[in-house]
Amino acid sequence: MKMTEFPKDFLWGGAISANQSEGAWNVDGKGPSIQDVAPGNRNVFTPIDPLKYDPKGYYPTHNGIDFYHRYAEDIKLFEEMGFKVLRMSIAWSRIFPNGDDDQPNEKGLEYYDHVFKALRAANIEPLVTLSHFEIPLHLVTEYGGWENRDTIKFFMRFVKTVMTRYQHQVHYWLTFNEINMALYAPLQTLGVDVKMSDPDREQHIYQAVHHQFVASSLSVAFARGLSTEQHVGAMLGYSPIYPLTGKPEDMLASLKAEQEKFFFADVQIKGHYPEFQLQYFKRHGINIQMLPDDEALLANNPVDFLSFSYYSTAVISADSAGQTEAQGNVIHAFESPYIPKSEWGWQIDPLGLRLSCNYLYDRYHVPLFIAENGLGAHDQLTDDGAIHDDYRINYLSQHLQALNDAINLDGVNVFGYTAWGCIDIISAAAGEMEKRYGFIYVDQDNQGKGTLQRIRKDSFWWYQRVIAENGAKQ
Ligand code: BG6
Repeated sequence: MKMTEFPKDFLWGGAISANQSEGAWNVDGKGPSIQDVAPGNRNVFTPIDPLKYDPKGYYPTHNGIDFYHRYAEDIKLFEEMGFKVLRMSIAWSRIFPNGDDDQPNEKGLEYYDHVFKALRAANIEPLVTLSHFEIPLHLVTEYGGWENRDTIKFFMRFVKTVMTRYQHQVHYWLTFNEINMALYAPLQTLGVDVKMSDPDREQHIYQAVHHQFVASSLSVAFARGLSTEQHVGAMLGYSPIYPLTGKPEDMLASLKAEQEKFFFADVQIKGHYPEFQLQYFKRHGINIQMLPDDEALLANNPVDFLSFSYYSTAVISADSAGQTEAQGNVIHAFESPYIPKSEWGWQIDPLGLRLSCNYLYDRYHVPLFIAENGLGAHDQLTDDGAIHDDYRINYLSQHLQALNDAINLDGVNVFGYTAWGCIDIISAAAGEMEKRYGFIYVDQDNQGKGTLQRIRKDSFWWYQRVIAENGAKQ
């Protein structure tokens, strides 16, 4: 099927995060992050207990896919595919090993000097997430993570250091990866260890989130002070929750589920807490401690653009009896009877991406960026040394078709697309290697065994062609 082309200068590329790819967790002065105490092959986002850290255990982030040592080779492969952009993150604890250090770790800074230099040489624009579930462990155990207002100060020390150092190499920044995921995985995202059963759970989480909002605005203000070439975006985990039926009660349940996510983008884009959230806080006795200047800070420093991850959708009903919980990292709703599922139970809904673009653009009228999208699947290395991943090609081409429609039929302003896990990396939720998203296969299994050899999958050649044709044909 022919597609109209994507906009001129559309940023095609892929996305990874530091903790899922770099490895070298304690090399060249890096300190441990919250991810470095998350064991492999665990249940999805189960709470991590840093005190139960077993030095003999298997912790997949410790080696990642060894991007730390192999970045040059990997960037060459991205260049071969024609990437215009690589979304990556900087590991906070590589720069400030404990988080509260006075001085940055020069070795860590030099590492990213090299990475950005290699990207620039390959004509690939870096898009850098400042915090991708990677808070330094010391800030979690000693300060209680983002719930403690001091964490803003430590984070800004990190942000100012990296924005100043890399201002000529990096022009696009994202503050907090899937900021709304805080509601479901507060330890990994906020460094706040609060149990599901804690009656004050939401109080702890929303207070910590407020501190991230303040840090987001301070980051925007700092970037603007550096130069007009700096652009800072928010990052939302966006999975629309449809009403199960057309019943008004189901519509209301869907609206509430959407507002739960909109809240995060509203504050970062509109610059204030939305009314529905203030009412929610009142009803639930949640009281956010703010400093007198916070409101003005939020109002004066909205982000420049909104990025989001999109994998799937789910449904919700006022009556949950008989419903099956849908799978997905940011989904807490039910399976749809109309939508097929991936091997991991994530619902595959290309049209949902077009809907998402419309919902978000209508609401915010800022440029959008698709920061993550992709299919986690088992791949088979065949006897001829190939990986025939037509299922991935199908998934991605249908989603690109829907994205193209959002842009060309609906007029949504989307300026880039980064396929998640463009090279196979450690999966975030369960720490598995064999949930693969990449165009490039990495020879490593769920126990961390393998040669780490990189092999081009069929989807590698497919994506290379998509980029070369600016998405014109699928
Ligand atoms: C998002 C995260 O939740 O989804 C990524 O930003 C993550 O870090 C991605 O890897 C896919 O999830 P998973 O659990 O399949 O790796």
